[in-house]
Amino acid sequence: MALMDVLIDELRDMYSAENQLVKALPKLAKGAKDATLKQLFSAHLGETKGQVERLKQVFAILEKKPTGQHCGGMEGVIEEGKDALEKDEEGPSFDAGLVGAALRTEHYEIAGYQACISMAKTLGLRDVAGLLTANLSEELAAAKKVTAAGAPILKASARQPEEPKKPKTGKEKYSAQKSREDEKKAAPDLKKGSGKKTGSAISALMNRMVG
Ligand SMILES: [Fe+2]
Repeated sequence: MALMDVLIDELRDMYSAENQLVKALPKLAKGAKDATLKQLFSAHLGETKGQVERLKQVFAILEKKPTGQHCGGMEGVIEEGKDALEKDEEGPSFDAGLVGAALRTEHYEIAGYQACISMAKTLGLRDVAGLLTANLSEELAAAKKVTAAGAPILKASARQPEEPKKPKTGKEKYSAQKSREDEKKAAPDLKKGSGKKTGSAISALMNRMVG
């Protein structure tokens, strides 16, 4: 069944993502300055280990092995988290970067589980959908808790004076260069897109006037 193959691939992606997070979350917990944030990351590490176990149960039900696919998406998101951990910011501003990084990982997982649950339900795999829903609920709750813990951190960060600009590191220079390239590459398509929209809006208006 084609959808089953897609689901297995997606699940292997999630399994890889969760395993990557088992390694990344202690670094976030260690790096966080705010005690609540620190505690949240540690607590979510415990949950993540349980999520890996649930995914193993899913693969046992499906009689498939859990490995076979590395999640490049989560690798990228974690890489951005590492950037946040390397930032030379003071207290709340440093933590504000971690809040952003944590929310990205949570929402990446939320999207992944939602897609897998829809597929499992379509295939009539109720036990699989149930286990995945348990993981999804934890991710949704974690994202909510990080958002709540983040609110006072962002406020404190907003009160911090702006730091004097430091010279960019090699990595930051490379990233800035790549972002300019992204903009440049998209520019012709952006022009096309907006032109088309205006064009169709004008023709719709003309049709209405003629009609
Ligand atoms: Fe997770």
